[in-house]
Amino acid sequence: MAKLEIKKYGDSVLRKKTNPVAQINGDIKQLAADMLETMYGAPGVGLAAPQIGVSLRMCVIDVSPDKKNPIVMVNPEIISGENKITAEEGCLSFPGIYESVKRFEKVEVSYTDLDDKTKKIKAEGFLAKAVQHEIDHLDSKLFIDYLPDWKRKSVEKEVKRKKKAGQW
Ligand code: NI
Repeated sequence: MAKLEIKKYGDSVLRKKTNPVAQINGDIKQLAADMLETMYGAPGVGLAAPQIGVSLRMCVIDVSPDKKNPIVMVNPEIISGENKITAEEGCLSFPGIYESVKRFEKVEVSYTDLDDKTKKIKAEGFLAKAVQHEIDHLDSKLFIDYLPDWKRKSVEKEVKRKKKAGQW
């Protein structure tokens, strides 16, 4: 296993189109293991492949308190969602930045697991938020895209400041 470098906002890979995973093989299983190690080490509750510089449709999530419930989602898609709520969230590509984002409270999502089985799960609460955030990454979308202009600009200013201070 290996801990990988997490790409921060400003890296073009975060806006690059991802390709679907064609086949679950040893490389994909290794990538999933490395992504989990990177996510736990950060520490974080979710990580998408573009965040470690890989433009593939794949993400890992673990919102459990004891960090023993990893979910690896290959080619995930949101099937449906209900009830929009606003909650604060962060992103490993935006260290130290937290903003309120409106998302579905409950979602139904389908994906392929590492045993090449198609899964369909219902998620709510923290898990629903994480699933939507990570799948957004696979669509080259970032949480700041949901913010009003003035707020997004203030985040960008903060990023610029952190870059200058060598904190990015
Ligand atoms: Ni993120």
